[in-house]
Amino acid sequence: MHFTVLTLFPELIRDTFMTGITGRAVANGLITLDTVNIRDHAVNAYGSVDDYTYGGGAGMLMMCEPVYNAFAEAKKKPENKDCRVVYLTPVGKTFDEDTARDLSKEGSLILLCGHYEGVDERVLDEIVTDRISIGDYVLTGGELPALIVMDAVSRLIPGVLGNDESSEDESFGNGLLEYPQYTRPPKWHDREVPEILLSGDHKKVDQYRMREARRKTKELRPELYGEYIKKRGIF
Ligand code: ADE
Repeated sequence: MHFTVLTLFPELIRDTFMTGITGRAVANGLITLDTVNIRDHAVNAYGSVDDYTYGGGAGMLMMCEPVYNAFAEAKKKPENKDCRVVYLTPVGKTFDEDTARDLSKEGSLILLCGHYEGVDERVLDEIVTDRISIGDYVLTGGELPALIVMDAVSRLIPGVLGNDESSEDESFGNGLLEYPQYTRPPKWHDREVPEILLSGDHKKVDQYRMREARRKTKELRPELYGEYIKKRGIF
């Protein structure tokens, strides 16, 4: 996977992505990361990338030209020739594991991070293929959402997670939240690991985990549980 991030804060993207598992994936050559600083494509010597909105209202809007020129720079790379362009915005489709899976099948992605009150709609209409929100709240910019999308996508790329970090058995994989897990010691602060997990009976352990996953999902995410039940015809 090749990620290119169009951003006013390339260091934030690089420093965060190069940490931990995603950083290891870059070091191993499974993922490559490019950043394009939108400020390098400012329209004047003052480095302006934003302006007042037509029609009035508070706040500034990122202008078409710097964003378009940053995009054009990214498109010069052959690997970005036909790639999808994701704009991170609260006015987008809510990100979920299905979308992460869908994006992880691409060979490369361009991610556009907005700032101020957003980006002039005309350049978005011209270059963006996907508008993604990470949830119903407003952040100061698209960098953290971009990093969240990149992280969720990266861990689905074969080889990025080690065997011990497998993504198969976890939350959302089967439409349920993950069951609770425990490690040593068996007793801590008077709290004991459920006995069944120490029994060595794999069938019973599996049944226990499924029961717990359903219980947790029903309690914490009733709408997700409803979908799970409907899909499987269970009542
Ligand atoms: N930019 C600001 N808020 C955002 C959100 N919730 N999702 C994606 N991008 C954003």
